[in-house]
Amino acid sequence: MKSIASVLLALSLLFCGATSNAQQPIVIKFSHVVAADAPKGKAAEYFKKLAEERAKGAVKVEVYHNSILFKDGEEMEALQLGSVQMLAPTPGKFGPLGLRTFEVLDLPFLFDDIEEEHRVTQGPVGKRMLGLLATKGIIGLAFWDNGFKEMTSNKPIRTPEDFKGQKFRIQSSKVIEAQFKTLAAIPQVMAYSEVYQALQTGVVDGQENPTSNVYQSKLYEVQKYLTMSDHGYHGYAVIVNQKFWDGLPADIRATLEGAMKDATDYFNRIAKQENDEALAAIRRSGKTEVVMLTSEERKRWKKALVKVHTEMADRFGKDILSDIYKATGFDPTRL
Ligand code: LMR
Repeated sequence: MKSIASVLLALSLLFCGATSNAQQPIVIKFSHVVAADAPKGKAAEYFKKLAEERAKGAVKVEVYHNSILFKDGEEMEALQLGSVQMLAPTPGKFGPLGLRTFEVLDLPFLFDDIEEEHRVTQGPVGKRMLGLLATKGIIGLAFWDNGFKEMTSNKPIRTPEDFKGQKFRIQSSKVIEAQFKTLAAIPQVMAYSEVYQALQTGVVDGQENPTSNVYQSKLYEVQKYLTMSDHGYHGYAVIVNQKFWDGLPADIRATLEGAMKDATDYFNRIAKQENDEALAAIRRSGKTEVVMLTSEERKRWKKALVKVHTEMADRFGKDILSDIYKATGFDPTRL
């Protein structure tokens, strides 16, 4: 007669196995390339807090800052393979995936203020763009608008002519490449994680990013000049692996969608203040001279660069550009 003890042992092992499997939280690896204290790092941590609180232990969000898990050029493939579940890249990093439409957001002087950005990315145009990701096994959850890119360099920049012959690090975007070529500069695609050293060693002279990235990634330490050009959109498309997302229990997915909506509101609420505070901190450091453009000077930049809109229209599609113009009232002929 099988000993009662062995039956009890089998049952307890079964019970332990069942309970430990049941209690295993669903793990979401959220990887990104900027600093933990940059707006994206803060919003990713905020999403983690909300998701874990509201899912009551059923979900665990692991946030990987500063490219420690995957860097530019690696993270998209890792997402498609399911090695990571969530990313928040800039629009300029979708081109290599064949999603050229996203590069429309890289056009110089497309937006005049952050309200215009919200009107486009948080509205029907943004929704349509996120919908395109499904063709790549990716789901787009939200846009996080981080305001504007500024120019930094080790040579003073005040006029379009000042860019001539300067080497600039860029994201993997053909539209950004066209922007710098139009200024007779020399664009060089490079992962964000390599920018500090490339500036420090002179491999490149300059780069473009919002002040929060310039400060939090300490790029100001290796850049003598920061020109407040507000020349390009800076923001993120928050994306997830489609198979992972569709495979979630419906209640968990609803909880995560709610957490993402609140994290998006949080990001869009803090972005301007974070960038303003970063600018003040860069000024206080005394390491970088801040150049403020007059409205006349900014108009000259706009005139020099607006031709990129038409030159690159075939790449991302004339229709989405005209939808953006309609949403913002932008008229390239009235400059
Ligand atoms: C970049 O220049 O690559 C950045 O804008 C990266 C980021 O995610 O903010």
